[in-house]
Amino acid sequence: MKRYPVTKPYFTQKEKELIADSLDSGWVAQGPKVTEFEKIIARHEGIAEGVATTSCTTALHLSMAAQGLTAGMDAIVPAFTFVATANSVTVTGATPVLADIHRETFNINVDALKDIVETKYKQKDGKLFNKETGNELWGFVPVHEFGLCCDIIKINELAEEYKLKIIEDAACALGAKIGNIHQGAFGNTSCVSFHPRKSITTGEGGMILTDDVVLAKRMRELRTHGSTVSADARDKRGGFLLPEFNEAGYNYRMTDVQGAMGIAQAEKLDFVIEQKRRSVGVYNQLISEKLPELIPPLEPDGFFHTYQSYVCMLDEKKFGFDSVKEGGKYRNRLLQKLEDVGIATRQGTHAVHMLGYYRNKFGYTPEDYINAYACDHLSITLPLYVGMTEEDQEYIVTAVRKTIDEM
Ligand SMILES: Cc1ncc(COP(=O)(O)O)c(C=O)c1O
Repeated sequence: MKRYPVTKPYFTQKEKELIADSLDSGWVAQGPKVTEFEKIIARHEGIAEGVATTSCTTALHLSMAAQGLTAGMDAIVPAFTFVATANSVTVTGATPVLADIHRETFNINVDALKDIVETKYKQKDGKLFNKETGNELWGFVPVHEFGLCCDIIKINELAEEYKLKIIEDAACALGAKIGNIHQGAFGNTSCVSFHPRKSITTGEGGMILTDDVVLAKRMRELRTHGSTVSADARDKRGGFLLPEFNEAGYNYRMTDVQGAMGIAQAEKLDFVIEQKRRSVGVYNQLISEKLPELIPPLEPDGFFHTYQSYVCMLDEKKFGFDSVKEGGKYRNRLLQKLEDVGIATRQGTHAVHMLGYYRNKFGYTPEDYINAYACDHLSITLPLYVGMTEEDQEYIVTAVRKTIDEM
């Protein structure tokens, strides 16, 4: 039986060659390869600075910490996202406040965001304070879910109106754009992931992108224990440089072995996105012909979706589910049956308010964020990766059709 993973990375000989270079040079911790990788990715996104990290989660945490998010503050995050978005806020000591999303795009609903800002907070001395907890509202961490930019232009207007900060969680969205505006153009920082489920990978890895040169320098220091001197800088000088440690920092350094892999992968980024977009066109056509009960992902006019994942929704009305909960049970049975015939699928991502830690801490109920809850229960991610053929896609869609017919 042929097996279809939900995704797989795309490698050529180049990754092996550059990793071998790194091994041969003896420089395997952070060094020149990471610096080069940072420059390539920043240039690709049209942003001044790239600060590589060990993951997108650490990129988020580092950029939050560097921009003053701490205990006694709130940051608003979408209710439908990978738990890392909310967790990064939590580990700074701050509180993530959830906002519901649009089912059509899986992205944060700007009206819901505005409503939270205007009803949950009161203004004092030019700042916003939570009416219940007294926490200061620090800003927003909107997500470009699955590779589609959220409505970052409107979010930016709201942030400017209230003098709030934005960190774009672009874990899935390297290369994504609205018109000619790329992800990362509005946030104070934007954080991308190089986990193998993303368009390009370094095994684990992430990067903070920013046009703020001073902030980038500070984040580089915090990435290295708060040291004022990087190993690369010390090496370039050709001697010892005694660092100062003026702040308590972290070790969030990407290794040069990963940097080498990243350089080889970065060359493939546009190709990977283009190949996935081609396969998405094939899926959209097949689904409209054979699976009308599935709602394919939306790419609104003017948006350039990079399709980290191909996430569809089971159409509640066409399936005639009594409730979202029942629909979720059906969806899970469907995922299992597809797994049994060699097709790996997943739910899109999570309704954060239903995840144990957040549900218990804040006493959330499903209805608190109904769209996030529905997307958690009714979404299905189909396999998508470079190298899929139209025959593979035809096989997958036919198998989903057959499975649904037999259920
Ligand atoms: C929206 C979002 N944010 C953050 C992350 C965390 O990325 P990483 O695995 O690189 O830490 C992910 C990972 O899938 C994600 O989807």
